[in-house]
Amino acid sequence: MTPEAAQQKIAELRAQVARHDELYHRQAQPEISDFDYDALKRELADLEAEFPQFATAESPTAQVGDDRAEGFETYRHRQPMQSLDNTYSEAELREFHARLGRVLERDALDYVVEPKVDGLAVSLTYEQGKLVRAVTRGNGVEGDDVTVNIRTIKSLPDKLKSGPDAPIPDVIEIRGEVFMTLAEFARINAEREEEGAPLYANPRNLAAGTLKLLDRAEVAARRLEIVLYGLGYCEPASAAGETQSGFHALVRRWGLPTVEKTWAVQGIDAVWAAVQELDGMRNDFSYATDGAVVKLDPIKLQRDAGSTSKAPRWAMAYKFAAERAETLLQGITIQVGRTGVLTPVAELTPVQLAGTTVSRATLHNRDEIARKDIRIGDHVYVEKAGEIIPVVLGVNLAKRPPECAPFAFPAACPVCATPVVQLEGEVALRCPNHECPVQVRRRVQHFACKGCLDIDGLGVAMVDTLVDQGWVRGVADLYRLQRDQLLTLGKSVEKSTDNLLAAIEASKRAELWRVIHGLGITHVGAAAAKDLAKHFGSLEAIAGAKYEDLIVGKKESVINGIGETMAQAILAHFAKPENSAVVRELRELGFDPVAPTASAPTGTRFVGKTFVLTGTLPTMTRDEAGAKIEAEGGKVSGSVSKKTSYVLAGEEAGSKLDKAQALGVTVIDEAEFLRLLAVDEPAVE
Ligand code: IVH
Repeated sequence: MTPEAAQQKIAELRAQVARHDELYHRQAQPEISDFDYDALKRELADLEAEFPQFATAESPTAQVGDDRAEGFETYRHRQPMQSLDNTYSEAELREFHARLGRVLERDALDYVVEPKVDGLAVSLTYEQGKLVRAVTRGNGVEGDDVTVNIRTIKSLPDKLKSGPDAPIPDVIEIRGEVFMTLAEFARINAEREEEGAPLYANPRNLAAGTLKLLDRAEVAARRLEIVLYGLGYCEPASAAGETQSGFHALVRRWGLPTVEKTWAVQGIDAVWAAVQELDGMRNDFSYATDGAVVKLDPIKLQRDAGSTSKAPRWAMAYKFAAERAETLLQGITIQVGRTGVLTPVAELTPVQLAGTTVSRATLHNRDEIARKDIRIGDHVYVEKAGEIIPVVLGVNLAKRPPECAPFAFPAACPVCATPVVQLEGEVALRCPNHECPVQVRRRVQHFACKGCLDIDGLGVAMVDTLVDQGWVRGVADLYRLQRDQLLTLGKSVEKSTDNLLAAIEASKRAELWRVIHGLGITHVGAAAAKDLAKHFGSLEAIAGAKYEDLIVGKKESVINGIGETMAQAILAHFAKPENSAVVRELRELGFDPVAPTASAPTGTRFVGKTFVLTGTLPTMTRDEAGAKIEAEGGKVSGSVSKKTSYVLAGEEAGSKLDKAQALGVTVIDEAEFLRLLAVDEPAVE
């Protein structure tokens, strides 16, 4: 290649890599697989090595990417957070070992092999054993302060445990990975599917997107996890031990979550054996593992080996290539969800992929099909993203039959033929017909399902029948069903008809949260429904709620667990006349759900006192604090007024704290609260 051509190619590759960096790190929406991204970067690095006159410190090959986002304070790491060199080749892994042997002038080298967790890197700072800050990698030098969101992780202690073998350092930066378990990812996607919302591609993107949400309640509802595996800064340095394997043991003793399994081995053959063993067992882990990280064990040797501007020379990631397969796209079907969203689904010639047979894959939406130019009759590449959901990566153009035409996305609902619409700010196309039989079916199925009203005898097939007969056009119609009508469905159905009618009748007195969940409000799952039921006490109160009943001041939740996103969804739901009509109709039909009764107080310390909770408390959630207040006869309110007895404020307290100070309301912290709880009754004047 001529230098001119190389320069041109380098510029093109840099632009491509920069674009994919932006998509991956900042938007958490990658368009290409890790493998293809690594290949692009490798091609760029090889060209820069061949033509060093064009290498610069600004090239993406010399940098670690940048995840910083709007809305967060940035914080400078005490010690920079580096990236890792990676490879997909055994030979290169062996070369890594040979190079270290030469540099360190040793034959025998001790290593630790760890799972490479597919999440996003964070650095936690503990001062005197207390968690004070959590920061993303950012650009390696400074990252986003995500402490508030990290504190929603239940398995992460706020305080390190100390012990004879695990003294607490004065200051320590511990590095790790935030991730989402495959089970939690599946749970969220199942909810999205029910809502007709587009599915998340893989747990890594969902974890990254979640960590960067500004709505803490929303973050808490999506359960993130963390493992810690690396040392940043430590004071005194001796407190972190002398080896990586020893550091793992310390992390465990301090009570922090760490990786499932590590291997302390000597020599590259043993490293390779450990990598193979990990590959064999990683499908049983609760999280996605996309490779193995091989690290020199003695910290002194790590220091001797040093690092480049971007990555340490003493560590290397060996990545497992995601399995992909090529198959024929036989057709594209369009699914209509509960809220009318049209989702295109690829119907594939069945093909084996990572242990399962794949015959369908989501194509997400119209724009995705157009962007990848996917056509019926094409041979497409499929890959399991994060080892779970199959996705169509792209097309093998060499095999495209000449008669293949671009896919014409339907302009009308495939079920009811209503012209589709695109709402502002959405990529999805929707069928706007609230009466569309599929939407009706899905709404009623959801209402009757186990997690909602749990109506016996009203399964998917029965709902289909009722809708097909034209008897049910909405959930309220269930309460208008007539015995005679149902008996026409067949012979010997008397008993089941009577049972069904009895179950429907009984559901009128279901617990309120089940009804709220059953209404299918976007984002409102069972947990949020319980919070809403407890706070509002009736369907009418929720349906009539205004923005300020849900959110006050600087976007602070009135109800713990109900943040801005959910609040907007609730308001939007009941703003639609057909949805508020359902609440009215249900009541007219004798619907009378049971509101939760607060459990009877067991103490009297807070009788007559009203508390407002704000910010993050060090050792308990606001719900837990609220339960303690109610158990002592006190009340918890969402907004501060002159009548408020105490504002219990934690870290990152917002406008409620300002208001309390302005009104002269007593502000207490958790320690003071615990003292009030501990003093002899009656303690609070
Ligand atoms: S060590 C200086 N160990 O992989 C060493 N990283 O591709 C830096 N990762 O930025 C990282 N599991 O986000 C290390 N066991 C592990 C890891 C791990 C996942 C991530 C981390 C890093 C990225 C590099």
